[in-house]
Amino acid sequence: MAPFINIVAMLWSLVIINSVCSPRVIINALSLNHYEKTCPSVEDVVAKVVKDAISKDRTVPAAVLRLHFHDCFIRGCDGSVLLESRGGNNAERDGPPNISLHAFYVIEGAKKAVEDVCPGIVSCADILALAARDAVSGGPYWDVPKGRKNGRTSKASETTQLLAPTFNISQLQKSFSQRGLSMDDLVALSGGHTLGFSHCSSFQNRINNFNSTHEVDPSIHPSFAASLKSICPSKNKAKNAGTSMDPFSSTSFDNTYYKSILQKKTLFSSDQALLTTPKTKKLVEKFASSEKAFHTTFANSMIKMSNINGGHEIRKGCRFIN
Ligand code: HEM
Repeated sequence: MAPFINIVAMLWSLVIINSVCSPRVIINALSLNHYEKTCPSVEDVVAKVVKDAISKDRTVPAAVLRLHFHDCFIRGCDGSVLLESRGGNNAERDGPPNISLHAFYVIEGAKKAVEDVCPGIVSCADILALAARDAVSGGPYWDVPKGRKNGRTSKASETTQLLAPTFNISQLQKSFSQRGLSMDDLVALSGGHTLGFSHCSSFQNRINNFNSTHEVDPSIHPSFAASLKSICPSKNKAKNAGTSMDPFSSTSFDNTYYKSILQKKTLFSSDQALLTTPKTKKLVEKFASSEKAFHTTFANSMIKMSNINGGHEIRKGCRFIN
């Protein structure tokens, strides 16, 4: 049974100061009952929109989960990733690492549905945090603290703050710790890669011309490298070519991602890097042998990540500031 996270024990994580991506220190205290009086049906409304979207498109869960992660890592979880470029400003969603983000329409649709029942009350950032939880259906469930505000700034140039698939463990750790997230959070949240799809361009460097001594990254299992090469030959310029993030079960929120790491069968250097310190390796082994341990830690880490905060307003729509 999917573990239910006791939120009362998580009060310590209700407020995280985002002092990394912004010189301002913003503290928005979040709470489970933030909309209890002002919009009591918000969770049901969002859940329905997400469920309907998933029933029509199986790529929605991965897309929404990644949207939330990318939102939180730039200026905190403030919905800045949802803003469109406008008036000469190139927004986050048009930054190179975000070009493959999709399913924005799900969050837009949820916002419209929420506005119908309680106009001007619920932030797009909260809707995205709820949708990410609902998207992980079949995986762990957690209560989402609410009360985020939306940011008014979104710059494509800031997407350099996102993590690259070529990162090694110290680069990953640095980026997570700057946001108040631990090595445990890094290993657990990387488990998001049990869902979804990657383009060849995100791992092509590992299978063609890796370095001066190796054509293929030696940390990939040879048979897996061969299958990746057949999907992504070096001359393949097809823009949409790629493969499942977790080739063995890319639509179920299970622990095969960790089993794949142990077998050297993951797409990114950043995935395989989790084996390169004793601490992270031990956690990979733990999650590979216990799906329950993965789910419980993932849920706790999502609560922490989605509390990185920093917005100012409740937007009328998610694509533009008021
Ligand atoms: C730890 C560092 C991470 C790196 C370097 C990384 C990098 C990437 C890259 C390069 C892709 C493929 C993009 C493409 O080619 O289209 C991807 C996909 C994805 N990532 Fe991550 N990621 C990281 C962490 C996370 C976290 C923390 C989550 C969520 C909790 C997450 C969720 C996803 C999902 C669900 C997809 C598939 C998206 C889709 O199918 O639309 N990733 N990631």
